[in-house]
Amino acid sequence: MNTWIRRLAVIALLAASLIGPAARAAVGQGTKLYHGAAYYPELWPEADVARDIAEMKKLGINVVRVGEFAWAKMEPDEGRMDFSFFQRVFDQLHAAGIDVVLCTPTATPPIWLSHGHPERAFIDAEGRAMIHGARQHMSYENPEVRAACLRIVAAEATALGRHPAVIAWQIDNELKCHVAEDFNPSAIANWQRWLEKRYGTIEALNAAWGTEIWSQRYQRFDQVPAPLRTPFLHNASLSTAYRMFNRERTADLVAEQCAEIRQHSSAPITHNTMRWFSVGLESLHAPLDFASFDDYPSSKDWRNLIVDYDLFRGAKPGRAFWVMETSVAHNGWLSNHEPAHPPGFLEVEAVADYALGGEAFCYWLWRQQRTGCELPHSAILSAWGKPTLGYAPVERVEAARRRLEPLLAASQPAPSEAAVTWSDLARAMWQTEPLGANRTHPVDYQKAIGDWHSLLMDAGIPRDIRFEGAPLDGLKLLVTPMMPHVSVAFLAKVEKFVRAGGVWICGPLTGGRTAEHTVPTDAALGALEKLAGIEVVYSFPVNGIDAQAEAAGVSAPLAGWCNALRPAAPETQIVGTLRTDRVEPGLAFATERPLDRGAIVVLGAEPQGDAGKTMLAKLVTHYAGRAALGSRYTATPGTLVAPRVAADGHRLWIAVNLDGAGGEVQLPTAATDALTHAALPAGALKLGRYEWRAVRF
Ligand code: GAL
Repeated sequence: MNTWIRRLAVIALLAASLIGPAARAAVGQGTKLYHGAAYYPELWPEADVARDIAEMKKLGINVVRVGEFAWAKMEPDEGRMDFSFFQRVFDQLHAAGIDVVLCTPTATPPIWLSHGHPERAFIDAEGRAMIHGARQHMSYENPEVRAACLRIVAAEATALGRHPAVIAWQIDNELKCHVAEDFNPSAIANWQRWLEKRYGTIEALNAAWGTEIWSQRYQRFDQVPAPLRTPFLHNASLSTAYRMFNRERTADLVAEQCAEIRQHSSAPITHNTMRWFSVGLESLHAPLDFASFDDYPSSKDWRNLIVDYDLFRGAKPGRAFWVMETSVAHNGWLSNHEPAHPPGFLEVEAVADYALGGEAFCYWLWRQQRTGCELPHSAILSAWGKPTLGYAPVERVEAARRRLEPLLAASQPAPSEAAVTWSDLARAMWQTEPLGANRTHPVDYQKAIGDWHSLLMDAGIPRDIRFEGAPLDGLKLLVTPMMPHVSVAFLAKVEKFVRAGGVWICGPLTGGRTAEHTVPTDAALGALEKLAGIEVVYSFPVNGIDAQAEAAGVSAPLAGWCNALRPAAPETQIVGTLRTDRVEPGLAFATERPLDRGAIVVLGAEPQGDAGKTMLAKLVTHYAGRAALGSRYTATPGTLVAPRVAADGHRLWIAVNLDGAGGEVQLPTAATDALTHAALPAGALKLGRYEWRAVRF
């Protein structure tokens, strides 16, 4: 068996050296749908590889991700590197037609790098040093650690980067998933250098941060602390800057690894991330070729899944994204686990991924861990090599993938006309200052993004979540919630968009802080007020008082923070009134200013509860009409339409029931079932529990 596989491998290697670049070009193009798993052959006897491959072929697994935790296998002692094991495994995979996403192994630094070197440890905000174990325990800011990372990456790329099985690279894995800002002395020294580069002189930093406050004034950059423990809180400017510095350094680590790889390999590069980690998504993606992420939703949490699909689709415009990990049934680690998926959920998770612009749907993991700390996590095969609870769902995904591939390869996700803004700086600022939060009212940037995304989705509006720096091309409606700092560049871009006919829903709680995380002194919202034709009269918390918003015929309670608005331009209208005995009557919580062909709508606060949701849904519907969105669909909540456009111009809808309750979608005209070619009349198309349909117009 082995000799047979080896022989085939050699023939395939020769063939692939001719066709390799063409095969690689497919990644990110969305012309082939990948179905994969995280594979750790280094954890099992080498003889198991042939059996694994045979099982993978049976299931239709056409890609595996390898190597992200295998540093000690690749470099068992400092400087002694050996990639022959992976070479042999890749030969076998390639011979069987299974592609490889090769990872750099820097997520798990080996013992020889950490032992006897406490100065290389990751140190958290409490000043606690991590010891060897788990992962992410070392400081990538330490020069020896960073150099060791780049050395292993260069050696790995040299040894394996041109292997024909390797269709893509993944840098590290989930940077900053277990840890946040690094307080290693090397990180702090780099921080001080970073500040010097950014501000030039210490006087400039003192002025920007207003360090006269509490006698914080610094005399030299090497005195500026990192925000470790103090008796009370740090200056907001310092805290936010430290977060952004760390996120930039993480993006630099990715860029440095990419540069090493690109010297030896032309395969496109990604990183597997999540939007909850302490990274800046926009800077992280800049050096990458395509986006990938992992997602472990419970079936009840399917909305977050769609947030991710709509966010990562735009992270590298024009390149299909990958779901690099999800669980086949349930996730788990020592002491905890999540519920196992209901039958049918995994299939629609995959269908929604592919339909919304994903090119790959991959599992964590192929075979249940027999050691380590994730023993209870589901996998396709059990540790004893038998099909698990997740096996049959994976078979169903594969059947769906095969049916979808010809349709999706010949079409693209339809460009979105609506978007929600994602700002990494905003997220960092909310982490520093959750304005409006108290014991009764938590404030969370991610939740706000998710809530606004849901408002658009439930209104049947196909949508993107776009990075703050992304162009607004193709959009007619933009919502920018909770972005405390509105930069000059962003405001200029939005003004152009609005004047050309776009509708910008600005807020709630957008504006109000400078780039340095200070309070503007010209107007509460700085330059935004002038453009929006408003004046913020008061800016104050509304938790614990009776404050009501009235708009769109609905009255709803307010909580959190509130900007009480007054029109300051003749054409600005009040579209939502504010009622509380704390301020005089007649002030607004929502305004609209028509500007050339478009409009700016400012929301000064966030209506709460079911009434608040109803009010915001009505406002979204109203402004979607005002923006003349042409791409809306009507579906019951919990059922999603992914609209696509085929190369020959026809429209394709993939309709998916995600909440497991079944639902229906209104077909605006007669259509055909793209899979069975059956005629579908205009009107309601019913979908059962976790059912999906492909509709051709
Ligand atoms: C991911 C991680 C994997 C594994 C998995 C378990 O976040 O990338 O390595 O730990 O979680 O759910």
